[in-house]
Formats: sequence, structure tokens, C-alpha cells
Amino acid sequence: MALKGKVDAIIGAQWGDEGKGRIVDSLGDRVDIFARYQGGANAGHTVIVQGEKHVFHLLPSGMLYSGKTCVIGNGVVLDPEQLLGELSELQAKGKDRARLVISGAAHVVMPYHKKLDKAQEARRQGNKIGTTGRGIGPCYVDKYNRSGIRVEDLLDVQVLRTKLELNLDEKNELLSKIYDESPLSFDEVYRQALAWGKALAPYVDDTSLVVHTALEKGQTVLLEGAQGTLLDVDYGTYPMVTSSSPTAAGGCVGLGVAPQYIQRVFGVVKAYLTRVGEGPFPSEDKGDLGQYLRDQGGEYGATTGRPRRCGWLDMVALRYAVRINGMTRITLTKLDVLTGLNEIKVCEAYTVAGERCTEFLGNISFLENVVPEYRSFPGWTEDISHIRSFDDLPKAAREYVEYIEKITGVPVVLIGVGPGRDQMIIRGL
Ligand code: GDP
Ligand code: IMO
Ligand code: MG
Repeated sequence: MALKGKVDAIIGAQWGDEGKGRIVDSLGDRVDIFARYQGGANAGHTVIVQGEKHVFHLLPSGMLYSGKTCVIGNGVVLDPEQLLGELSELQAKGKDRARLVISGAAHVVMPYHKKLDKAQEARRQGNKIGTTGRGIGPCYVDKYNRSGIRVEDLLDVQVLRTKLELNLDEKNELLSKIYDESPLSFDEVYRQALAWGKALAPYVDDTSLVVHTALEKGQTVLLEGAQGTLLDVDYGTYPMVTSSSPTAAGGCVGLGVAPQYIQRVFGVVKAYLTRVGEGPFPSEDKGDLGQYLRDQGGEYGATTGRPRRCGWLDMVALRYAVRINGMTRITLTKLDVLTGLNEIKVCEAYTVAGERCTEFLGNISFLENVVPEYRSFPGWTEDISHIRSFDDLPKAAREYVEYIEKITGVPVVLIGVGPGRDQMIIRGL
């Protein structure tokens, strides 16, 4: 069936925090529906408009746009406390401008999920994942175990009671007997969940149908990926990954749109590389350069405040992200952060057991043993934050961007030269 509208996807090409929120915001004028389709409040998407900073964890980054719709799809794990908190913060500022629609089929992050997340992480000792502690993994476990509580269940007093009884029976045993944690009171959780249901009810709808109807009318839907390709549960550095599918294909399942409607896949690529949490990172710099990037780029987690690990751009991993997502365009962020460096490096290949390797594999034993092979580029010193045209960039900056295009075969259509909505070079979309 041909539909008049189109779906574009904004995908994290690395280990998250590439600047997806600001790209979504910068494209906002061209979008009718903004949709989150996976992950939960582990995300932290920063949007800066007229000097004011907003960090979205669960709400889509289009909430500041009036006359638009923001959708939380079925693939998201929704923490009602977090969502209602974010919403009331925006309401207090008078900035909850978009219409919010939430899928009844989205799973609810319950208090025991957050408790279990932290308890399990503490027990992992030498094998920590470095989770955000937002209950993401345990909530997805229940979803796939078919025991989870969905948003629609919060609206039905009896269904909620039955499901919560079953869940709490099991979770309280786990918490007290395995993890030495205090059990949760049924009455308290039930009362809280009923209140969440009442507060969320006005927003609950069939989001797949909302999106489909918009596409029939010729509207544009923007998928807002959270996390990034290298954190994908299948394609990332398993088990140091998140529990969902942040890739473009995840958008089809997590929102209920068919694959043929996704037209453009924008990969968000930071001009260097960061990772927060545990796991291999071949081009990480643990010394002065890493600290320099962290300071210049303000690389501290938007959700947990943890310092992000920093290093050079990894073309092996980036080509992999291009392949997995069918990336058709690159949006390059934070190019301005590289200003002032004498030399800029990129990892072009790995050497492993004496062999040169140019294909990424999300296997941690492999990645822990690779030696990065770097190519070096000259830096530039000119402030680029005010530049809005590609031709006005210093030659060295242009060459760096052109190199990324050459190696990936994907055009770089947007270049971030600062965090503000308009601090962007647009080279055609
Ligand atoms: P997300 O999770 O992918 O949305 O990214 P985060 O919001 O966690 O982290 C990106 C950070 O970089 C935020 O603080 C943004 O304000 C900032 N940022 C995004 N694009 C640019 C850019 O082009 N230049 C600079 N200097 N900062 C940027
Ligand atoms: P955005 O959308 C960066 C990382 C955590 C941890 C791993 C698993 O802002 O890019 P989880 O809590 O999901 O079970 O943690 O994934 N992680 C992120 N890292 N950006 C994110 O989101 C992340 N969400 C999760 O640090 O290593
Ligand atoms: Mg983030």
C-alpha cells in the first residue's frame, strides 16, 4: 500500500550520546510526528534552544514544538514516575507544546525493575555493564518472558491487581532471597500504579494507527533512536549493551511502521568517539587527549553525570553502523570540539594477531585484542562555531568531513558546530 507520507530515522551510530536530541530538534520544523521507539529513561537527549537547556529522558525531543505530535511507541519501556516528572517540569515552564500520545502496549518500568537493575549490577563485580540503573534490562526481561505490565494494564484495576500480585510474589522472593534487598509492599506499589494509570490515561492511544493515519495524510514521521548501534542488544558489544534495538530496523517493530516507509536513515556521528559504562573501546584515549576531549566536549552523562570515556573516531565501527542501519545520510556533531588540536586521528583498521582487519564484530574477546591503526589529519585553530556554510570551514575541517564521506560512502548533510538549535551547517538533506 502506498502512503503519501514518509518516515525518517535518526539513529545513534556509536555508543550513544552522539547528539541525537539536538539533531531531532534542529530538524523539528520539517517534522509532524516525533517518535521514540525503544529504550527508556536510560536515554538523555539534550536540546538547547535560545540558551535554555532541556534534557529529555523519555519524552521525545520534539516536545518543544507546538502543533506537532510526540509519540511514545510500544517498544519503549516507560517509567511513569520519570515521564510524569518530565512532563510537569515542561508544563511548569509552559513548554509542553506538542500533543503527547503513548502506546498502551509499551511496558512499564516498575519500582522492582529499578531495584533489580541496581542489585544485579552490584553482584556482577568484575563483569559490570555499567547500566544507568533505570530498570531497563529487568523490564525488557519481563516483556520477553511475557510477564510484564503494560501501560494499558495500569488502566484496568483488576488486570493490574492480578498481574502485580504475580510479579511481586516472584520479584520479592528474588529481591530478598537472592539479592538481600528489602521486599516491596504490594499495597504501596498497587496504589502508586493506579495513580500512574489515572495520570497517563489521557495520553494512551493506538500509536501505530496514529502514525499510519499521519502517513496517509502525507505527513512526516521522525523516529528518534535512543542509545546507539554499538549498544544494540544484537549488534553491539554484547553483553556490554543495552536491552533494546536502537538500530533503524528497531523502529519498525518499536513503533509499528512497515520497513518500506522508512525513507531516509540519518546516522548521528560524533566527530570523535565516546562511551559511558563498561566494555571495549579500541580507540579510547585514557590519557591527556581523552581528558581534553572530555573537557572541551563537556562529556559527562546527561542521565547519570558519569564522565564519558573519550577517544578518536573509529571508521571500522562507523562503516559497520552504516551497514547495519542502511544509513543514507550522516549528521556529524561536535566538529567544533576538535578545534585547536594540532593533529586529529581516526582509527582506520584494526590489527589482530598480526592480521589487518577492517570489519567490526560486536564480540568483546575480539575487540579487546585489536590494536587500532590510525591515520593522522592536520587540525585547525579557527573558531568554527559561527560558520553556517561548508565552504567557509577551514580547509583541514573540510578535508576531515570529506574523508568520512569517502570511507563510509555516505554524504555528511548536517554538521554541528555548537550545541544550539541553529549552530549547524546544512548541506542539503
Ligand atoms: P544524545 O543522547 O545523542 O541526544 O546526546 P547527549 O545530549 O547525551 O549528548 C550530546 C551533547 O553534546 C549535549 O550536551 C549537546 O548539547 C552537545 N552537542 C550536540 N551537538 C553539538 C555540537 O555540534 N557541538 C557542541 N559543542 N556540542 C554539541
Ligand atoms: P542516549 O540515548 C550512552 C549504556 C550504559 C551502559 C549500557 C547499558 O542518551 O544516547 P542500560 O541502563 O541501558 O541497561 O545500560 O548502555 N547506555 C547509554 N550510553 N547513551 C545512552 O543513551 C545510553 N543508554 C544506555 O551506560 O553501558
Ligand atoms: Mg545522551
